[in-house]
Amino acid sequence: MNLASKFFQDSFQRVPARCVLAPGRIELLGNHTDYNEGLVIALAVDRHILMAGAPRNDGKIELVSAAFAGREIFYADKIEKNPAAPWADYVKGVLLHLRLRGVHFTGFNAAIHGTLPPGAGMSSSAALEVATALLVRKLFPYALSETGLLAAPRRDARGELPDVGKAEKLALARICLTAERSFVGANVGMLDYLSSFFGKAGHVVQIDCQHFTVTHEPLSAKASFVVCNSGVRHDLTDGAYNTLRNHCESAAGTLGVPSLRSVTPQMLELRKSQLGVRDYECARHVIEENKRVIAGERALRADDMEQLGQLLYESHASSQFNLKNSCPELDLLVDLARARPECMGARLTGGGFGGATINLVRSEGVKLFIDAMKRGYNAATGQTMEPMVCRAVDGAR
Ligand code: GLA
Repeated sequence: MNLASKFFQDSFQRVPARCVLAPGRIELLGNHTDYNEGLVIALAVDRHILMAGAPRNDGKIELVSAAFAGREIFYADKIEKNPAAPWADYVKGVLLHLRLRGVHFTGFNAAIHGTLPPGAGMSSSAALEVATALLVRKLFPYALSETGLLAAPRRDARGELPDVGKAEKLALARICLTAERSFVGANVGMLDYLSSFFGKAGHVVQIDCQHFTVTHEPLSAKASFVVCNSGVRHDLTDGAYNTLRNHCESAAGTLGVPSLRSVTPQMLELRKSQLGVRDYECARHVIEENKRVIAGERALRADDMEQLGQLLYESHASSQFNLKNSCPELDLLVDLARARPECMGARLTGGGFGGATINLVRSEGVKLFIDAMKRGYNAATGQTMEPMVCRAVDGAR
């Protein structure tokens, strides 16, 4: 029995009917490109949110989370925020938007258990949203397309539903996105949801956020991914993230394009004098980052990890000096990594302003790297930091 099912049993004194798992993600390359209709390379990782649940018929929803004390109780037809339990907003936002699309549910109990460090930039909140959409599907089968509700899927002889298809994953990712933007209040892009839904073991997920196409590229065993969490908590709703997005959109508006995706570096330089300083810096980061992603995809195809690593370092420098979403602790982690011969590349990952770095490390040197990073970070900050080796896994199910 997994930890969410056990927690469910302890909390509700019965066994859960269904359980879902949604992985977190590492953004390997492509920082703040997703909401600019740009390109990203990510991987779904072996850290996740598990959610176990059982249906009920009285319209009541009772949630417990292993990470927070208390029980959040509300009704399916009255979904509102509770300032005392902000962790439940991610679940509520998805439920609300499923209902608005006509998905019917009569209440349920659910227990949440996670192995994703919150605030580390590994998308714990997105994983919770994805898990919610899938748990409701398992408890109250529904099928959604971009245009609305379809005929509900049928359970097989063992009571299982068919896997969620590609088009439906995209539709569910959009529900999660809408929940995060309009209920939680963070104006994020599609990266986190698509990575969690489309993860593939041993592969990266390459996402084109203009057309929402997803492709996979195999990873070679010679490189490992090590996440170093700075311990500086970042919150996508605190305003700094949305401010960057506003600068990017304002730059696109001045340049007269729907998004920065279609802007070339030359075009940006020609029009530089018309842009405010921050609009220019943010746009420059995004435009160059898209180019780095294209180069990164090429490096992955050629299995050239050294080249990929260089692009990671360049990406961090651009986040640091152009986008300005780094912080001293993240810069320190990248500097410590750069001094290690086992490391091929490092950069901040996710929204920034805290959270974690992703390090591309020669597989045979992982242990050495981890020890050195722990020692170095502790010596410089007095803080304990426990690096995590992450593997690419299959998507949410
Ligand atoms: C956060 C957001 C994503 C993306 C990244 C930055 O993780 O949730 O949509 O914008 O930041 O690339």
